[in-house]
Amino acid sequence: MLILGIETSCDETSCALLWGDRDVLSNVVSSQVEVHRPFGGVVPEIASRKHMEWILPVIREALGKAGRSMDQVEGIAVTQGPGLVGSLLIGLGVAKALAFARKLPLVGVHHLAGHIAAAYLEDPGLRPPFVALVVSGGHTALYHVKGEESFSLLGQTRDDAAGEAFDKVAKLLGLGYPGGPVIDKVAREGDPKALRFPRAMSKGQGLDFSFSGLKTAVLTYLRDSTFLPLSKGALADLAASFQEAVVEVLVDKTLRAARKCKVGRVVAAGGVACNTRLREHFSAKAREEGLEVLFPRPSLCTDNAAMVARAALGPLERGEGVLDLSMNARSRWPLGVRENWLP
Ligand code: KG4
Ligand code: ZN
Repeated sequence: MLILGIETSCDETSCALLWGDRDVLSNVVSSQVEVHRPFGGVVPEIASRKHMEWILPVIREALGKAGRSMDQVEGIAVTQGPGLVGSLLIGLGVAKALAFARKLPLVGVHHLAGHIAAAYLEDPGLRPPFVALVVSGGHTALYHVKGEESFSLLGQTRDDAAGEAFDKVAKLLGLGYPGGPVIDKVAREGDPKALRFPRAMSKGQGLDFSFSGLKTAVLTYLRDSTFLPLSKGALADLAASFQEAVVEVLVDKTLRAARKCKVGRVVAAGGVACNTRLREHFSAKAREEGLEVLFPRPSLCTDNAAMVARAALGPLERGEGVLDLSMNARSRWPLGVRENWLP
């Protein structure tokens, strides 16, 4: 089956062509990072306008790169939510128009199910059950993935997402936007033990996360620092110590979840899963516990349409894709049933 995937939930305009369950024929991502950089974050109104300008060229480019035409497409997958409503509506509108014009089945995909589905593209042999950590700019959540379309929510952030913490701290440090990649780079020169930042909710508080206190701790440290502006070395130490605090909590809770769910495999997905230190620490800790850890490659971790197409494969193959013109964007949309668990 040839699936055309569309993703426009935040600030990446993306279209992909997926053949079968693993052949990504093209995965075009047009990032708006440069457009939003002067504002230090995504401006929703500008994001939706850019999606509108870029979506058709991006779809044409994806078809061209895959060497396929619309006549060959057998199903359409589009991110229905959660995300910025104005951005989601552009992808959804185009997907509905294409499905209507071509009489094709359409499936609305949950963005986080998409991030998790990236793992099946990375390793086509991967089968549930496993535990998935989804860490992005908008989400930090742990899922027990019981089947490709069956998720239990084990824990989530109570305030900021991990990626949001990276972005906010980078802003405090004057490192620019987006913060994740730049902190990752600067931290490589620093000592992660130089400063001890809090590991929020790390002891006996279930599998939820909290990152806003960590951001405040960095702010307080900067406010009280008598050596401003920070030297290059001090900045690197600060970035590395902050990153270590985020990484330790993420890894610790994911491994706890794996023990609770008695699974042998964990997956880390979403933009923050690109982080070098997270990958390194996760792999080392998982090895100690005899667990396998899988990271999709960075281009499949950040927002992309190939993961969206893969998440729709089951419903499309079962003939469950329908063109419902009243299908609406869901800016807030929980995934899976919450499982409450305290140690
Ligand atoms: O999944 P994604 O592309 O978009 C959302 O769904 O939010 O994730 C974007 C987030 C941003 O907060 C960005 O700073 C973070 O992922 N990120 C990273 C790294 N690369 C991207 N965070 C830490 N280390 C990285 N290398
Ligand atoms: Zn995302």
